[in-house]
Amino acid sequence: MLFCAKKCWLPFLSDESPKTTSPVDTARAELTQMGVNAALKVEEKMGDGYAIEKNGDGYVIRGGEKGILYGAYRLLQKMYLGQDACCEETQPAYQLRMLNHWDNMNGQIERGYAGHSFFFKDSRFCWDENRIRFYGRMLASVGINAVTLNNVNVHYPADRLCTEELLPEVKKIADVLRAYGIRLIISVDYALPVTLGLETADPLDERVQAFWNKQVDLIYSYVPDLCGFLVKADSEFRPGPYMYKRNHAEGANLLARALKPHNGVLIWRCFVYNCRQNWRDHSIDRPKAAYENYAYLDGKFDDNVILQVKNGPYDFQVREPVSPLLFAMPGTCKAIEYQLAQEYTGQQIDLYYMAEVWHEVMDVLEDMPPHIAAVTNLGDDENWTGHTLAQANLYAYGEMAWLGRAFDGTKVLKDWIGLTFGQDFEEKDRLEKMMLSSRGIYEKYTANLGLGWMVTPHSHYGPDAEGYEYDLWGTYHRANREAVGIDRSDKGTGYAQQYPEKLAKLYNDPATCPEKMLLFFHRMRYDYVMQDGRTLLQRLYDDHFEGLAGAEKLLEDWQAMEGKLPQAEWEYGLDRFRRQVENARNWCDRMNTYFHRFTLIPDEKGRTIYD
Ligand code: GCU
Repeated sequence: MLFCAKKCWLPFLSDESPKTTSPVDTARAELTQMGVNAALKVEEKMGDGYAIEKNGDGYVIRGGEKGILYGAYRLLQKMYLGQDACCEETQPAYQLRMLNHWDNMNGQIERGYAGHSFFFKDSRFCWDENRIRFYGRMLASVGINAVTLNNVNVHYPADRLCTEELLPEVKKIADVLRAYGIRLIISVDYALPVTLGLETADPLDERVQAFWNKQVDLIYSYVPDLCGFLVKADSEFRPGPYMYKRNHAEGANLLARALKPHNGVLIWRCFVYNCRQNWRDHSIDRPKAAYENYAYLDGKFDDNVILQVKNGPYDFQVREPVSPLLFAMPGTCKAIEYQLAQEYTGQQIDLYYMAEVWHEVMDVLEDMPPHIAAVTNLGDDENWTGHTLAQANLYAYGEMAWLGRAFDGTKVLKDWIGLTFGQDFEEKDRLEKMMLSSRGIYEKYTANLGLGWMVTPHSHYGPDAEGYEYDLWGTYHRANREAVGIDRSDKGTGYAQQYPEKLAKLYNDPATCPEKMLLFFHRMRYDYVMQDGRTLLQRLYDDHFEGLAGAEKLLEDWQAMEGKLPQAEWEYGLDRFRRQVENARNWCDRMNTYFHRFTLIPDEKGRTIYD
């Protein structure tokens, strides 16, 4: 059994990463180590793209500098899988294929579920070169080309990453990752000018502009190919241009103009909403916030600004509609942001394969933005992702970012299983089924039908139906004894009207709104009759029972794999699946009791609902 969780889907690579400095060198070294005869032909105009051709008993890989490396890893993976490695020229669907680490310099990771940071510890850089190189290999093997090392919530000392104090260290990491075609992005603090002595960070103040120009020149003297900055401004207590009564185009353009001479980009997050909302006030509806803050600014952003928009209007809940902002602003460059870290989706304890979510987005969003980002699920755990099976989300994300609409979550999963567990793994089909069913199972036992937010406050793992109900974050469902959900139609908050006409119409009416999002868009009575004739209440009960049964089945399936995996790995997984069942039971019982206490209507099938 070759399987080694540490080496993810690249079990065939050497333990020691070759100490290369450029993508082409890396490609050559990896191919040589594997004894593969391949001629490398750099054709710069192919950019990140590549082509693989047969050449006698060897191969030719043509591509731009990075394309050659992607082609080399593709070739090695295909050979390992026993698949035909040759391909016509392939180009990535997205230009920037980014990973955002939410690593703090004290070593903790915000919403991290796989240990600590492998970049930072005790407020300084602390990293193992071989691990960082293996990380580079993993990322390059699925075509990821830019990473942010530090959390979007930037606090001291991370705010110094773009100052003389820490730039020498940033440069060292940039030098290592350059060999894997990866460029760095730094998360910056909008108030840095003030921290460093200016009296203002007002984007229209010339002193502030001069400050950033100088700062950015300095940064590029250390890291000449820095991809750019990532900024979370005026969001969850972070400073931003609103503090100076400036809009977000004015705020973003300030930094974009400083970056422009160096070909850098400014990535500006649109996660801006009122996080001190009063639950008594029904006039504010949080999902409307991103659109309200940005849509009117279309055309006002400089051409090196990228607006990074979360896939849903809320915050990475299990089921959300696609953010209306992604349909708007045709004159503005955007990136879609996903969260591989399973903050609301099981925290890398519960199984949750994300491909379905990405398919759902592609199904409704006709024009995908040119860039893509994901919050990572990585940490310093031996297996990188806490749950070994969560590695699949990173692999599939990279593949999806390359393939775009040609992405097929099932096919990619098959490859991942083959690469990770070996071609002779007897339980391939079973594992595939488990993973493909995982999102549906999780959705059923947690907050189904688009409800969301019924999680334990702060930790976001486990149930708490009213945990956020009377809080300040704008995350309510307003359940009472008759109905649950928020009316976001034109008769309610009007959120549905932020969509293009066709979708607005679809979502506006409970009869046409996809049922899985019914309670996101509508406030419904428990006796509402669903498409299959069941009442809404019965559906809520059924889903929770079915979700729990699904989690139990996952555990059973895993138990059946004993002996088919290295024992330690199997036991590790067993612990996760047991915890998942416990979590699912907790959700099922508490949610059913919650709705039963309101309605006093028993389950039609007579299953136990506790009082
Ligand atoms: C969520 C998450 C925060 C994070 C924020 C963000 O709200 O809970 O920890 O900072 O998203 O995306 O900025």
